[in-house]
Amino acid sequence: MATRRLAPPEVQPKEFAFTAENLAWAKTQIAKYPDGRQASAVIPLLWKAQEQAGGWLPQKAIEHVAGMLGMADIRVLEVATFYTMFNLEPVGKFNVQVCGTTPCVLRGADEIKKICKRRIGDEHHVSADGKLSWVEVECLGACVNAPMVQVNYDFFEDLTPENFEKVLDELQAGRMPKPGTQIDRQFSAPVGGPTTLTDPSIYKKKNGQDAEPVGAALTDDKAKRPGEAANVRDAGTPQAPVADKTAPRGR
Ligand code: FES
Repeated sequence: MATRRLAPPEVQPKEFAFTAENLAWAKTQIAKYPDGRQASAVIPLLWKAQEQAGGWLPQKAIEHVAGMLGMADIRVLEVATFYTMFNLEPVGKFNVQVCGTTPCVLRGADEIKKICKRRIGDEHHVSADGKLSWVEVECLGACVNAPMVQVNYDFFEDLTPENFEKVLDELQAGRMPKPGTQIDRQFSAPVGGPTTLTDPSIYKKKNGQDAEPVGAALTDDKAKRPGEAANVRDAGTPQAPVADKTAPRGR
């Protein structure tokens, strides 16, 4: 993991401010926290700032968020530099985050990194057509289907040099390939179907009907589809009226 620093001054925009729509969204996030705890909204606000700035966090965006939350710039900078989900330099339209932690390395992540280097260039470099960039990150929590990468909001798992090249081909063509596992399995179920609890008698229905068939390979082409990002579908917590516990009862 390389040291995470702000992008050089020559690529930093001179200013940043939330759009009216994003400002309204930011206010709903801040309103979720009690007075004096507004700093708790720092991560969602940084995330929204990153989206607005084109996928990375300029220094002015970090300072803007600090100002909104009444925090020192250094405190927000600490958060932005700690989490690799915040990109401190410009990224391509598709930013490939390659997991380089032990389970993924044991299952071939080094080959995935070599392909990134050959096809995209050095880490943090944006390809000439602006489509691709890549970076190595720590465990993304999909170790069971290692090795894996995250591209923008989606995971691509069970990678091999062959299927990862195909993923990059699609991205370079401007298309988002099917996310999730890139081999024949459902989510993180065993490849080729269940390997335990396969005795049909345990699935016998109480009414005496036949058991459900077992042993068939679990597949679900539509299991993982790109959806709206969590922070996009998120909405402010409804402010339901709180019952007045001091009010006299029974009246
Ligand atoms: S080690 Fe790669 S996802 Fe956990």
